[in-house]
Amino acid sequence: MSGRVLVIGSMNMDIVVGVEELPKRGETLMATRQVTYSAGGKGGNQAMAAGMAGADTVMLACVGSDDFGSILRKKLESGNVDCSKIRVKDGIPTGQAFISVDSHGNNCIIVAAGANGEVSREYIEEQDALIKESDIVLMQMEIPFGTVLYAAKRAHELGKTVILNPAPAPDDLPDELLACVDYLTPNETELAKLAGTQGDPEDMAVIEEGADRILSRGVRNLIVTLGAKGILFASPEEKKVYPTVKVDAVDTTGAGDCFNGAFAAALAEGKTVPEAVRFANAAASISVTRKGAQDAMPSREEILKAGL
Ligand code: RIB
Repeated sequence: MSGRVLVIGSMNMDIVVGVEELPKRGETLMATRQVTYSAGGKGGNQAMAAGMAGADTVMLACVGSDDFGSILRKKLESGNVDCSKIRVKDGIPTGQAFISVDSHGNNCIIVAAGANGEVSREYIEEQDALIKESDIVLMQMEIPFGTVLYAAKRAHELGKTVILNPAPAPDDLPDELLACVDYLTPNETELAKLAGTQGDPEDMAVIEEGADRILSRGVRNLIVTLGAKGILFASPEEKKVYPTVKVDAVDTTGAGDCFNGAFAAALAEGKTVPEAVRFANAAASISVTRKGAQDAMPSREEILKAGL
């Protein structure tokens, strides 16, 4: 029996083109395949990953009253996510993300927030009963900052586990937010930005320095996603790298989201942190072998079969 995961975040229609290499400044490139439209948004992706990993999952988000909004909602419902509280906003387009994916599976993304900007503090205040009924609150940063801060404070006050995926990363996160977060889950680039480290963000010494800086600000658990290298778990007591399996990546879009959603699902069902990290690593390693974000999320059975 799983506890409940409440995801508060964005829902985007991902508009994806394939390219040989990602463009340089001022460069015009020809796409290597047809444009595709698929369900995304860091919030929606994480909810999908949690739902498919077996958690009782509820999504709080806003979409426009357009076709993209209803397509995204149906997609999440197909992944076992309760979408009954998602708000539909007239006159504002559903969020869209413009994504280029290169021949190595790397991507770059530009998000037009649209209705994601309507995920307001007032909306979350109206869902207080839902926060009370949840065990884990999982958020990212594609919705207004004030909403994230309010929801984190309220969830923490109610004794819930708060997971914050600081993506896209702001220049800094205030201490009053960090104090409410149980697990902070940046990737290497986001960590470097938040911690203000210099040097190659993928260098392990730079990552460890960044981790120390973030921990010194009172963060209880830091999980840095390292792509093909797995994850670094850091707390005041320990630092440990959990490797992941080697796979042939075709598209890394949403891999971090997959990790976050599966990690939340595993914690919600009572797994220990090491178990939850291994479960989430297995899930993310499957997701990169498939194209798209939500389309790539693995089922619980697939994750358990791949188990690390
Ligand atoms: O993390 C991947 C996601 O980032 C994409 O699905 C896109 O919508 C952007 O939000």
